[in-house]
Amino acid sequence: MKLAMGADHGGYSLKEILKKHLVEAGHEVLDLGTHDTSSCNYPDYAAKVAYAVADKDADLGVLICGTGIGMSIAANKIHGIRAACCGDTYSAAMTRNHNNANVLCLGERVIGYGLALDMVDLFVDTPFEGGRHQRRIDKMMAYEA
Ligand code: RB5
Repeated sequence: MKLAMGADHGGYSLKEILKKHLVEAGHEVLDLGTHDTSSCNYPDYAAKVAYAVADKDADLGVLICGTGIGMSIAANKIHGIRAACCGDTYSAAMTRNHNNANVLCLGERVIGYGLALDMVDLFVDTPFEGGRHQRRIDKMMAYEA
C-alpha cells in the first residue's frame, strides 16, 4: 500500500517512528514533511497529505500533530477526505470498517508510541465493509456538493 504521511513539529517524532515501521512492513511511504522539529503550521501538512489521497497519489494518509485534532479538522476540508482522529485501536479499525476513513490522525502528545504503531497497523490492514455503510458515506459526501 502507498501511504502519504505528514506531521507538524508536534508530530514529527512519531511520524519518523511510524514511517520506519510502515516501510519495514513493506509499504511505500510518501513523506510530505515536516522534516524537523522547527515550529510550523499543521494545516500546511494536512493539505499536502489530503490532496495526495484525494488525487490518488496515495491509498491512505496518516497525519500527526500534538493532538491529532487540528490535522483532522484541516484535512476534512478537502473534498473526498474522511479523516478520523483516533486514540484507541477499536476506533482505528472501525473507522476503516464503517466510515471508510482515508486519513488517520494521531496526537503525539496524547498517545504512546506502542499504541500508535498498533493503531496504524489496524488502520492500514482493516478493509471497508461496504453495504449499509456505503449508503451512509454517500449521504455524508453529498454534503460536499
Ligand atoms: C502545535 O503546538 C499544536 O497546536 C498542534 O500540533 C496540534 O495539536 C493542533 O491541533
